[in-house]
Amino acid sequence: MSLPVQPAVLLPPWPSAQVLSFRLTSPQQGKPLLRALLSLDVGNHTVVGLGLPFVKALGGNIPGLREFPALALAEGAPLAVSPADVWAYVGGQSAAEVYDRVCALTSQLPGGLQWVEDLATFTWRGGRDLTGHEDGTENPAGEAALAAALVQEGPLAGGSFGAAMQWEHDMKAFAALPPAARDHLMGRSLHDNRELEDAPPSAHVKRAAQESFDPPAFMLRRSMPWASAQRAGLYFVAYGADLDRFERVLRRMLGLDDGVVDGLLSFSRPLSGSYFWCPPAREGRLDFTGVLPAGGVDALPDVETTGG
Ligand code: HEM
Repeated sequence: MSLPVQPAVLLPPWPSAQVLSFRLTSPQQGKPLLRALLSLDVGNHTVVGLGLPFVKALGGNIPGLREFPALALAEGAPLAVSPADVWAYVGGQSAAEVYDRVCALTSQLPGGLQWVEDLATFTWRGGRDLTGHEDGTENPAGEAALAAALVQEGPLAGGSFGAAMQWEHDMKAFAALPPAARDHLMGRSLHDNRELEDAPPSAHVKRAAQESFDPPAFMLRRSMPWASAQRAGLYFVAYGADLDRFERVLRRMLGLDDGVVDGLLSFSRPLSGSYFWCPPAREGRLDFTGVLPAGGVDALPDVETTGG
């Protein structure tokens, strides 16, 4: 039996996309926002995620949903945390198509929301990060992808936990490295994507090797580059059947397990970090089981969140 997933969770990134996330600023926005989400058709292009403050404010309970952790490098500042009530990742064949979809979505939203993220992303050179490295090679496929990304059983089956982080690359610092050093930061060859036997323990693919965790940390990554004329990086998105798998990888990247920091951190830094519940969907409509009480939106008092 197939699970009622938001289809875009399972699809490779679209050529173009936009990330939107926001917080409520007044309890009166809660019901109109919910109505907008309930009437939204996510099609096969949009993924919607709900943050813990919103789920809690609705009286919902999604076991395992939490705030993005306040982690830090051993001697560094804490990672950026950017909680939001609602997150949407809207894809399309072109920036124009994404624009139309974003307009259709935002025209339904109540006024006065506080925007957290509003970022255009794109697929570059067939799915490469802006360093030139192919991204997504070791993503699980087929049945393994479903098992990695989706809650398998119970009333929440078909839903997924989303982790999102905007990373900014220092492109000049990366470009200044000799080719071998660039390969060793990632642990794969830029030339042919081959995994390098002699990569150091700090190489990203060694830090993140999914099968090396106990239990294994398989997840479905759907990241996309972002760029302006002056700044650029990767908008990292991963879907998982729980958030623990993502957090185990992140902790190891930061050197919190064994003191070895991921080579990525030498030229890239996170600007944001958030966790979401991506509810199941049926025929394009989100299923708010576990989030909304029986009786739906009308049974709710005004919705006040503490997302700030
Ligand atoms: C600047 C940010 C990042 C960049 C540029 C980046 C890029 C890459 C690239 C190029 C690969 C190798 C090809 C592939 O299998 O996809 C990879 C693998 C992977 N990355 Fe990242 N990544 C970033 C952040 C993260 C974060 C934050 C996590 C999770 C906490 C993560 C988890 C993984 C995993 C699980 C793999 C597959 C490892 C394996 O099993 O071989 N990455 N990444």
